[in-house]
Amino acid sequence: MNDSLNKIYRVDDLFNVEDLQIINESIKSIYEKHQYDIELGRLKLELNNLPMSIERKIEAVAESFEGKVFKTGSITYVEYSNKYGQPNLPTHFDGDQNNMVFDYQLESNTSWDLGINTELYQLKDNSCVIFNANENVHWRPNKDFKDGEYIKMIFFRIYDVDNRPNYLYLDYPIDDPIFKEINNLRDSMGKK
Ligand SMILES: [Fe+2]
Repeated sequence: MNDSLNKIYRVDDLFNVEDLQIINESIKSIYEKHQYDIELGRLKLELNNLPMSIERKIEAVAESFEGKVFKTGSITYVEYSNKYGQPNLPTHFDGDQNNMVFDYQLESNTSWDLGINTELYQLKDNSCVIFNANENVHWRPNKDFKDGEYIKMIFFRIYDVDNRPNYLYLDYPIDDPIFKEINNLRDSMGKK
């Protein structure tokens, strides 16, 4: 086991004004390619047109924390809103081939904490929580989004270039007993 697996980092003010302009323009230019995750209440867009400078910035932040060389695996933009179904993020592992995810909040007009294991983490615009989404279960509290409420996120997923992990076996169904304890905690919180 690697020491860093369960470390959880927060970074505020991740991007500067120029970066944010580039990111917003990149989203806009391919927005028509979006799809929907109806059961999660979100619109989804593979953000594969960001310049390398943005990817490098993310990789460098992770490298400064972990002392390893990282490469970007995927970048996904999502918008949670009741326009796309009722937003819901049940307890899960990502089950992919990445070491860390930057759960980055781009813009919002409501709040919705991120649960990692048994703890809640508050997100703010232009801030992120960075963690291993395969070694740590994660979820969001139950919440009824009101009409007009939205949260725009970007998930930057990165992997160790010298030792890319394989967590595909963690792709458990959401009703698997492995999630029972955390789901009980989640349900005991009621609606946020
Ligand atoms: Fe996830």
